[in-house]
Amino acid sequence: MFGSLLIAAAVCVLGWLYVRWSRVRQYWAKRGVPHLPPNPLLGSLTFLQRQNTGKWLINMNQHFKTPYIGVWWFWRPALIINSPDIARNVLVKDFPNFKDRFLSSGSSDPIGHLNIFTANEPLWSSIRRRLTSIFTASKLRALQNLLDTKANQMVQRIKNTEDKTSIRIRMLFTDYTSDVIGTAAFGVETKALAGGECPMRKVTKSFMTFNLWRGLSWSSIFFFPELVNIFRFSFLPKTATDYFTKVFRVVSDQRKSQKSRIGEPKDLVDALIKIKQESDLNNEGLTEDTIVAQAAIFLLGGFDTSGAALTFSLYELAFQPDIQEKIYRELMEIQEQNENGILEISKLGEAVYFNCVLKEVLRKYSTMGWLDRIAVKDYKIDDNLTIEAGTPICVNAIGMHYDENYFPNPLEFDPDRFLPENEKNIKPFTYLPFGEGPRNCIGKRFGQISVRHALAHVIINYIVEPLANGPKPNEVELEKHSLFYVPGQDLYVNFIPRN
Ligand code: HEM
Repeated sequence: MFGSLLIAAAVCVLGWLYVRWSRVRQYWAKRGVPHLPPNPLLGSLTFLQRQNTGKWLINMNQHFKTPYIGVWWFWRPALIINSPDIARNVLVKDFPNFKDRFLSSGSSDPIGHLNIFTANEPLWSSIRRRLTSIFTASKLRALQNLLDTKANQMVQRIKNTEDKTSIRIRMLFTDYTSDVIGTAAFGVETKALAGGECPMRKVTKSFMTFNLWRGLSWSSIFFFPELVNIFRFSFLPKTATDYFTKVFRVVSDQRKSQKSRIGEPKDLVDALIKIKQESDLNNEGLTEDTIVAQAAIFLLGGFDTSGAALTFSLYELAFQPDIQEKIYRELMEIQEQNENGILEISKLGEAVYFNCVLKEVLRKYSTMGWLDRIAVKDYKIDDNLTIEAGTPICVNAIGMHYDENYFPNPLEFDPDRFLPENEKNIKPFTYLPFGEGPRNCIGKRFGQISVRHALAHVIINYIVEPLANGPKPNEVELEKHSLFYVPGQDLYVNFIPRN
């Protein structure tokens, strides 16, 4: 009797699964949306852990060449957008319907779920409004001393390394970005560049290493958020969360005892303390966890994106001696304008050719190559397609960066695309390295400033050359386990001192 019941239950479950799967499988075909057949378990995610996500997105755009593609995040239908016009609608024009991201981190992990990157409405608007003012150009100019110190330490480290061809450039640059952002966001002197034992760097290093658990956590945060709470996946290990909270509390107490109310903020941590004080005064109930989560996401959202951009910049430049020489001359002019030989943040921002080079780096190597959103209500994409509320949207930024129609010869590194006379011909919403619209990268200026500073210091001091056995830029392996467009192999160049 019990056995028959069990068999009947199993048949019912299998029948239900079969009906459900048939519906899932037909989803995009029924709507006339181009797609590849989904895998019964992973949907379209069979590339995970086998191919870099950015590379997969480039291939998808090149394979279909259509304004959108239907995919499945496991069994959930999602839409990849390859069209700049639809991207504009989602990111800007109809933003109120796309304020939220699909990805989400579990409620058991305060840093994971309260930070501005993963937070959704209504928390997101309230945090974003407060944080926007701390990233203005004038406030970021206060970082001049920190950037000078860290960039000089970085050059010193290159000088002190006897065999300069042994320097792992991504490690060097992520030491620099961890120091710069860690110091600015948490207010403690970090020592990654100086090679000291540095807990902040331990956290960012753990972020760069992949294992099965981390792969599962991240895949589920990005593509199957319902599992995050069930398996208690987290953005960060608890030890890292506790460490961030402790550091923030100590620094916050120190600064508060120095002045009863923070005046004009000098760095990100000052600005965060000020936001907390104002919230307490007005009884707005912003918790300490929420504030610490923002400091943590600045570090985690910024160190590897900026570090990878620097790595690809230097590696590409090693193969481009003429471009290198041109930016060297431009940078020397800037340096000579300052009586102390300082590379001023604002002057580096005005260096036309240097900035074309960095724009081209972020076209070819967009660390975060796709923009994640979710439709709150049903939404008409065009005359042929209306998507249902809850459909995840993936704006294929990197796919457009490699689209011949928008960037001819996309594999070629050509900063001239961004010269003022050419840049005006780039179709809007085809170049999206920092995203677009109200939910774009809040740290865009910070990232640009710190990348410019580090690269300028290296180029002023060294000529970089490729090593005989190094891969060509277009042959560099990409990290297969990562959702981000980062190198999957150590990269080296030769640093030849200029004087
Ligand atoms: C070259 C460096 C960087 C690149 C390429 C980059 C790229 C991006 C992209 C593509 C997004 C998604 C935007 C969207 O969905 O429209 C993003 C979001 C974000 N980035 Fe960056 N980023 C960089 C540096 C930084 C830095 C230095 C910080 C912090 C100091 C930072 C903090 C954030 C945060 C907090 C978000 C989430 C914003 C929100 O959801 O409101 N990023 N970034």
